[in-house]
Amino acid sequence: MLNLKCLLVICTIISVVFGKEFNTSKYDYKETTESNKQTTEYLKQETTLQKAISWLITQRETNWGWRNDTPKVLTAIQLANLDKVGEESPLSNLEMQLSTKQMEVEIVLLLWRHHEVPLTPPQLAQYSLALNSLCYDPKQFHGHDLIATLQHHEPVHDLDFALATLSACTSRSHVRKKQIRRLLDIANTAKDHNIDTVAMTILALRCIVKDHRHRNLQHSLRRPSISLARQQQHDGGFGNVYNTALTMQALHDVNEVFNHWNKSSARSYIETRQDPDGAFTDPNLTADVILALSEKGFGSIRNLDCGKYDNDMENQVEIDGLVKTPSIHGNDSEIRNVTVTYTLWFGTNVTENTSISITAPRNTSFYNIMQSAMNLDNRFTFEASEWPNGHYVHTLAGFKEEPMGYHYWLLYRLPEFPDPMAPPANQLVAPVGVDDLLIEEGDHYLFWYKKL
Ligand SMILES: *[C@@H]1O[C@H](CO)[C@@H](O)[C@H](O)[C@H]1NC(C)=O
Ligand SMILES: *[C@@H]1O[C@H](CO)[C@@H](O)[C@H](O)[C@H]1NC(C)=O
Ligand SMILES: *[C@@H]1O[C@H](CO)[C@@H](O)[C@H](O)[C@H]1NC(C)=O
Ligand SMILES: *[C@@H]1O[C@H](CO)[C@@H](O)[C@H](O)[C@H]1NC(C)=O
Ligand SMILES: *[C@@H]1O[C@H](CO)[C@@H](O)[C@H](O)[C@H]1NC(C)=O
Ligand SMILES: *[C@@H]1O[C@H](CO)[C@@H](O)[C@H](O)[C@H]1NC(C)=O
Ligand SMILES: *[C@@H]1O[C@H](CO)[C@@H](O)[C@H](O)[C@H]1NC(C)=O
Ligand SMILES: *[C@@H]1O[C@H](CO)[C@@H](O)[C@H](O)[C@H]1NC(C)=O
Repeated sequence: MLNLKCLLVICTIISVVFGKEFNTSKYDYKETTESNKQTTEYLKQETTLQKAISWLITQRETNWGWRNDTPKVLTAIQLANLDKVGEESPLSNLEMQLSTKQMEVEIVLLLWRHHEVPLTPPQLAQYSLALNSLCYDPKQFHGHDLIATLQHHEPVHDLDFALATLSACTSRSHVRKKQIRRLLDIANTAKDHNIDTVAMTILALRCIVKDHRHRNLQHSLRRPSISLARQQQHDGGFGNVYNTALTMQALHDVNEVFNHWNKSSARSYIETRQDPDGAFTDPNLTADVILALSEKGFGSIRNLDCGKYDNDMENQVEIDGLVKTPSIHGNDSEIRNVTVTYTLWFGTNVTENTSISITAPRNTSFYNIMQSAMNLDNRFTFEASEWPNGHYVHTLAGFKEEPMGYHYWLLYRLPEFPDPMAPPANQLVAPVGVDDLLIEEGDHYLFWYKKL
């Protein structure tokens, strides 16, 4: 609680000190930078976007936020900025930082008051997506795991559920099979759902298939995507501006649906509905439109280069035998399979144990072995947070580390199958993280949940 208070005080001071000093006319876009744009269509779309962003900036409160819309507006502005490398950003770094701080204050207040005013999944999901788009990890928000809180209650409404799952997937949290099934159910009965729900579901599923473990679901996306694309109406829209903006994000860069809808007429539909001052009714809808028109929407957040995540595309080595390990250099005879065992022990006195034996190409990381084990047997389900130097496993088989109670998961690499009667000594704790631990024939891995 002390941390929360400090954050509040600091932010208030920042707002008071700097709030008055900015010359608002500086936020206006320079119209002159457009002269070098190539096509008139591009010019027009830039103008729509620029005007929308400029309008949003005029709607900013003196506390640097946008009332209930702070996370979505910040996400939209941040992603639109990233899209225009080299051009001048409409907000300075300092302004972005102040608005980000305001957003942190809002999250802190939500967490602080959640006993009186319950947190809602859509709120948490929007804040998590915004944090991700700004390269912050919502799983480590000042020691608070927003995604875990979000995943704690499954939303009743399909739209909220899809948004929450998109947000969990975006922060690379484990998405449960049950959740994926529910998304697939929605996608496969698209006719019974509103367009926004289907679009959000497709966004969530497209995020999930970026995870190499779920790439096989790619084909299940084809039919729902086509059926969504075909709902385009003669005016180019999908019923209203909001549905159109969300659908454009869901279908962005999906080659298979290219023939089933007309993207430029969807764009025109949106553009003709812009108010003269640049707004689309309110900040909420304006932010949705910016996400759609800037070509970087909700679907792009997972793969942002925050200098910390592996690119999904580089991470394609399958170890379940479905896909061959690429042999870039050397020849196939070097790719040798090895078998290792992987055991979980629960409790300092080992009251429970579980083991599995896994075969995989030599030099596979132990992290990949853990993923295979999880796919084969849900007793090996785990959750890890991502750090610049790799994954940190904090939860296995539903048991989460409890630093307060000194309960930790310790990983051992052993020359023999672990025996609870002769527990391993501390020297056998693995010297490196799960990503850097490469398996060798005869390795025995043990994760032991014990009190230190
Ligand atoms: C704000 O900026 C404009 C244009 O850059 C300038 O003309 C004006 O004098 C500035 N106002 C203040 C209060 O600095
Ligand atoms: C923004 O608009 C969407 C769609 O109309 C709505 O579901 C959501 O509650 C709005 N958000 C806020 C903060 O009002
Ligand atoms: C898409 O719509 C635009 C009008 O917005 C039209 O000019 C164009 O021919 C359409 N493209 C196709 C492939 O139908
Ligand atoms: C390695 O294992 C995979 C699947 O388990 C199998 O398809 C492949 O042939 C094996 N490779 C070698 C060199 O044994
Ligand atoms: C593959 O590598 C092995 C040992 O490195 C070598 O003996 C063998 O000739 C190579 N095979 C081919 C086809 O290059
Ligand atoms: C496995 O790793 C070792 C050490 O990094 C390396 O020498 C070897 O070439 C690697 N083998 C394969 C098949 O990648
Ligand atoms: C573990 O075993 C020791 C002695 O065998 C016993 O004193 C201790 O209470 C046990 N701990 C738990 C948590 O069961
Ligand atoms: C679990 O522990 C029991 C008792 O110590 C032992 O006999 C058994 O081999 C262990 N099983 C596994 C799978 O580790």
